[in-house]
Amino acid sequence: MSERLYIFDTTLRDGEQSPGASMTRDEKIRIARQLEKLGVDIIEAGFAAASPGDAESIHAIAEAIKESTICSLARANERDIRAAGEAIKPAARGRIHTFIATSPIHMEKKLRMQPDQVVEAAVAAVKLARQYTDDVEFSAEDALRSEPDFLCRIFDAVIQAGARTINVPDTVGYAVPHLTTEFFRKLIEGTPNSDQVIWSAHCHNDLGMAVANSLAAVMAGARQVECTINGLGERAGNAALEEIVMAVRTRCDVFDLETRIDTTQIVPASKLISSITGYPVQPNKAVVGANAFAHESGIHQDGVLKHRETYEIMSAESVGWSQNKLTLGKLSGRNAFRTRLQELGILPEGEEALNAAFARFKELADKKREIFDEDLRALLGDSGPDAAERYRLISLKVVSETGEQPTANLVMGAQGEEHRVVAHGAGPVDAVFKAIESVAQSGADLLLYSVNAVTAGTDSQAEVTVRLSLDDMVVNGQGADIDVLVASTEAYISALNRLTTEAGRAHPQA
Ligand code: KIV
Ligand code: ZN
Repeated sequence: MSERLYIFDTTLRDGEQSPGASMTRDEKIRIARQLEKLGVDIIEAGFAAASPGDAESIHAIAEAIKESTICSLARANERDIRAAGEAIKPAARGRIHTFIATSPIHMEKKLRMQPDQVVEAAVAAVKLARQYTDDVEFSAEDALRSEPDFLCRIFDAVIQAGARTINVPDTVGYAVPHLTTEFFRKLIEGTPNSDQVIWSAHCHNDLGMAVANSLAAVMAGARQVECTINGLGERAGNAALEEIVMAVRTRCDVFDLETRIDTTQIVPASKLISSITGYPVQPNKAVVGANAFAHESGIHQDGVLKHRETYEIMSAESVGWSQNKLTLGKLSGRNAFRTRLQELGILPEGEEALNAAFARFKELADKKREIFDEDLRALLGDSGPDAAERYRLISLKVVSETGEQPTANLVMGAQGEEHRVVAHGAGPVDAVFKAIESVAQSGADLLLYSVNAVTAGTDSQAEVTVRLSLDDMVVNGQGADIDVLVASTEAYISALNRLTTEAGRAHPQA
């Protein structure tokens, strides 16, 4: 039997450190559920000490998820460890991941600590973390720019203190693959009791080598890889989970390792993260890009038709690209709808939510002849109009004509009142957003406007993400509709509603 490679997903922690990728508690729970379905071994759900909101999200995820270990990050100090320990308490299996920097530049310039003090802090942190859970991970931040001898010393000390996993991060994405293999070999050979722990790689992608470096570490004996869906993460991102998993699976002749990942859940996970964060996936991205399985050249198409393996090393279905299978249509009933949502794992909680989703499905089926799984995912991802929200789209008419300035006629509900406004803009979307702002007067800055077609064809639903910032708050709003302008309006309004909710949290009324 092949040895196991543990997949540690940090989309909700390092991934959330991507600029503007902050997620709400409910979005994090939705993502955690998808990660559980994907078969991720460890979900790093956040950094409990970062904010009460982070701690609350980790706690809620620890309550909801049963199949994956739930982990919180913590710096090597008492306050962070206690916050992490409290946040993971409800988890069936909980882990504390504590870290401190070990490179000369970080110790001297950032921590202003002597190496001895760093070792002491690390040991104290691990010992305290062990009071909350047996499952403690220690990371030497900026390890790939640290002295190997010092790393062996600190790893020896934290293993004696009770760490079970030793993570060796390439924090700044500086490593190159063949040296990474050598580096890991040296650490594993030079650390006493190295066979008592799991060695882990955590690579950043600043030079585009995060996946290659992670796999290089695996070649040296690392048995945990820390990664994110779509490679989301700080700066240029982390190693992409989908690439690591598919490399190990496709090249089992090289790695001879197994993961617990259900690869057919990769594309749904990728789409979910992309729609929630508003970070689109580049079309030529490995595994999850729209073109990853598209064959353009005639020679390739001919080859694939004759024998798929001539030009494909893995199948689109194996990573969850559906065959654009027609699932439901205009005449489908509520039961068929419910069954399909259940099969896709996106059944909303409660009859009321299901009824609302079914009503939106019927509306969509009136406009779009063929409804695919992707349509259902977009439909369920977009929570639809909510009467309890502050702003609501009632109706929209946009006139766009060559040589004329586009005009938006908008009827919008705001705090229970109906407003009719007309606005002009540089383009139709600009006109719509100006119309909304003339009612809301939020003063928010538009940081991102992104449109994705959910399926192929001109009758595809458009999935729109709008990112707004106001003061120190950054929120995303999503909308999905066959009409790109309606989807854009809903995305903007959903972002405005989130800003209101966030502002209410930051300044609760006495
Ligand atoms: O990149 C890094 O060093 C990290 C650590 C906190 C593990 O994210
Ligand atoms: Zn990182």
